[in-house]
Amino acid sequence: MTAIWSKNDWRAKPRVQMPDYPDTDALRAAETQLAKYPPLVFAGEARRLKAELADVAAGKRFLLQGGDCAESFAEFSADGIRDTFKVMLQMAMVLTYGAKVPTVKVGRMAGQFAKPRSAATETISGVELPSYRGDIINDIDFTPEARIPDPARMLQAYTQAAASLNLLRAFSTGGFADIHRVHSWTLGFTEKDDAEKYRDMANRIQDSLDFMTAAGLTSETNHELSTVDFYTSHEALLLEYEEALCRLDSTSGKWLAGSGHMIWIGDRTRQPDGAHVEFCRGVQNPIGLKCGPSMTEDDLKLLMARLNPGNEAGRLTLIARFGAGKVGDHLPKLIETVRREGANVVWCCDPMHGNTIKSATGYKTRPFESVLREVQEFFAIHRAAGTVPGGVHFEMTGRDVTECTGGVRAVTEEDLSSRYHTACDPRLNASQALELAFLVAEELSAVREANRAAL
Ligand code: PEP
Ligand code: CO
Repeated sequence: MTAIWSKNDWRAKPRVQMPDYPDTDALRAAETQLAKYPPLVFAGEARRLKAELADVAAGKRFLLQGGDCAESFAEFSADGIRDTFKVMLQMAMVLTYGAKVPTVKVGRMAGQFAKPRSAATETISGVELPSYRGDIINDIDFTPEARIPDPARMLQAYTQAAASLNLLRAFSTGGFADIHRVHSWTLGFTEKDDAEKYRDMANRIQDSLDFMTAAGLTSETNHELSTVDFYTSHEALLLEYEEALCRLDSTSGKWLAGSGHMIWIGDRTRQPDGAHVEFCRGVQNPIGLKCGPSMTEDDLKLLMARLNPGNEAGRLTLIARFGAGKVGDHLPKLIETVRREGANVVWCCDPMHGNTIKSATGYKTRPFESVLREVQEFFAIHRAAGTVPGGVHFEMTGRDVTECTGGVRAVTEEDLSSRYHTACDPRLNASQALELAFLVAEELSAVREANRAAL
């Protein structure tokens, strides 16, 4: 991090995927208002997450990042937050069991509102309108008025993020996250007839919990069993919002993106000389960087130097998202670049964004088999390279939606229309997300076995 950085330097750089607000007075008013509001997160929390991610890079923790593709104003509800939080805790328990290391839980929540789009406009029945870019920018309704970028939406997004984070903090420490309660939720999934293959692991988890209780390790005696650390993250796409919430941390004298604990740079906005990289390089939060098939070795090298010049552990998470069947074409050479540079990174697998297809019924979907296959390829390549597969990144919800096909409680292409609620990309439902956690846990056990054999 250089001393000569200002939170508005990005404004002089080329920007992509950001709206041109027609009403500049309204934009300025919203920015001024936001800049007066308190930051959503505290610098000490971002530093703690960074320290935990440093452990992830070293194989001492595992990262689970998940949540909506796009949070929406209309779908905002306490139950929605509770259900996603709950399924992430269930997944974390299963992953911890498989990896035998703690799971770092990071929600795509409380700020995941702005979306990059593959096309600037959308055409329906011969009518062409600007694309929907997330509720923080414009409205999903297909009318010319709805699609005008409205800066006042930033204030509503802030309010929703603050309320979401408040509830997440309450759930994390108020008794809801008690390990014994989490377990009883897991049983709901594994008791299903078709979930037989997962029952064995669930039983073993139960045995471990029973043993802990018998040994006197209860929530009453151990604070760690009744509370969790839960962090928030989102794509830092809308830089006016990010700048307005950026604050100087008096403890460290460094800048903090006050909008969430971790922010990431999308696959479409990671130009090394662009606005998004310029903003993110100056804040002390952990930074994610999406790496899709177009990521070159030279760009990765440049981006690592720019985003983590001090090679600080836990600062940079590379989120690989190539698509099933393609991981082998891209990941090994990027792993080699990281190795050559001696860079300290977390490797995380996003098996969602390279696996989106259009179903025969017209819905954007993701087959569970492709998602799983990309995860398996990611693990196999890291095993072969002797590097650490640090985490997974899912678009998921705690609700019983029908957006991705497959899974033990199979969602078919015909089912998609029944509960297709996403504001953007298709999400795994609660059952699919938990099933995937069991399958990732198997991969993690295999990594442990391989490491043990190598000793
Ligand atoms: C996303 O995470 O929602 C996203 C748009 O990802 P990517 O930048 O990898 O396409
Ligand atoms: Co998405």
